[in-house]
Amino acid sequence: MRKYVIAGNWKMHNGPVAAKELASAIAKKNNGKTTTEVVICVPFVDLFAAEEAIRGTTVKLGAQNVHWEEKGAFTGEISVSMLQECGVEYVIIGHSERRQYFGETDGTVAKRVAAALKGGLKVILCVGETLEEREAGKTIAVLVRQTKAALNGLAGDTMKNVIIAYEPVWAIGTGKTADDKQADEGCGVIRDAVKDMFGASVAQDMTIQYGGSMKPANAKALLAMPNIDGGLIGGAALNCDDFTAIVDA
Ligand code: PGA
Repeated sequence: MRKYVIAGNWKMHNGPVAAKELASAIAKKNNGKTTTEVVICVPFVDLFAAEEAIRGTTVKLGAQNVHWEEKGAFTGEISVSMLQECGVEYVIIGHSERRQYFGETDGTVAKRVAAALKGGLKVILCVGETLEEREAGKTIAVLVRQTKAALNGLAGDTMKNVIIAYEPVWAIGTGKTADDKQADEGCGVIRDAVKDMFGASVAQDMTIQYGGSMKPANAKALLAMPNIDGGLIGGAALNCDDFTAIVDA
């Protein structure tokens, strides 16, 4: 049985005051939901406020990046143990915005994933093709390359702590959603890559999310697809009612 996981990626939105309000509202509406795991991935500076707001509920706390070193001279970076001290359980790694704007590569993604898993965090690994790559017929190759590069060398039994989010870059924040079939195919390609690396049962059990302009109006159809086990939600995660509607879908 695969676990359904709906995770909100707040990106660079909300300071601690607004975060406390939104996290409280989300916790109130989503506490106790058992068929779907609900996660909010907030900016670093919001972790304390959000943790306090969801404490004692079933809503889980996530961050949006993590460094691979334990500590040291890495200005602006945050380590696994620092996140854990703030109550973080999940961390997004390899989001396309990090890859596009902040020099994240397959190599640095792999280092972050390995460190997060070693330290006991659950990883939401993002992979996805750009519009140029899709139009050049490279979608499958890109998804396989990114997935394999990020998970290379890891033990199969650590995969229970990995979620992969298929996020076509052209669908993120654009209002353009991959249609149900495209989204399902992308998730299927990723599942096959996981099977290649770790075998059928690991692939079968892995939660694979779709992300990219998921909203209440399209969530039900996307989430009904056989290979889609949840969503990584950007824009719609900033509104408690929209986010909750997606969880309920
Ligand atoms: P979006 O973002 O839902 O605003 O498209 C999704 C994401 O980037 O995780």
